[in-house]
Amino acid sequence: MKITFYGHASLGIQVNDVHILVDPFISGNPKASHINLEALKADYILITHAHQDHILDVEAIAKRTGAVLVSNYEIILHFEKLGLEGHPMNHGGSWSFDFGTVKYVNAIHTSSFPDGSYGGQPGGFVIEGEHKNIYIAGDTALTFDMKLIPLQTKLDLAILPIGNNFTMGVDDAILASDFVECDKVLGIHYDTFGYIEIDHTEAKQKFFEKGKDLMLLEIGDFIEL
Ligand code: NI
Ligand code: MN
Repeated sequence: MKITFYGHASLGIQVNDVHILVDPFISGNPKASHINLEALKADYILITHAHQDHILDVEAIAKRTGAVLVSNYEIILHFEKLGLEGHPMNHGGSWSFDFGTVKYVNAIHTSSFPDGSYGGQPGGFVIEGEHKNIYIAGDTALTFDMKLIPLQTKLDLAILPIGNNFTMGVDDAILASDFVECDKVLGIHYDTFGYIEIDHTEAKQKFFEKGKDLMLLEIGDFIEL
């Protein structure tokens, strides 16, 4: 499993030959101006919630690639009206795709579309694929619901927001990594806007002191599990 960071909460996940994008927000992120949107491959686009900083490039990428969208019912309904193909889910449900199993799990956040219309309830994803399991928390507060995840899934990586203000900050993300029983964390949702700028060295040190590994990737860099 190869995981590429495209800035903010945007990720590329490759499982064998299948390309999955998560929360594409690239054209609106000046820090990601070196990422060529036109070159991104996508068989699926996973969307955690309807906020602009998670859906901005969904329509353009899906129209170019024919990618299948995976998200909550309301978000899929919205994009189906724009002519895109989607697979609706809701919290607690899982589905086996050709790359692995996806479960849509709870997140504590909000989920309106940029025009204020209802975007269902926000979520995160647990992906079990190619003998590697990951958790993409989405935008969320720390929540006890995270403790449900390791009852069923042994995670290899937790992808957690760490930018504070709109989501968990570093200290709560450390507790989240305890809750999901995964000490290997990829940080997302930081530095993009003024409200969520963090001190990288301090964040990594705080994780290190708890015996955990916080990875902060340069935009465009990847890790392999
Ligand atoms: Ni959000
Ligand atoms: Mn966000």
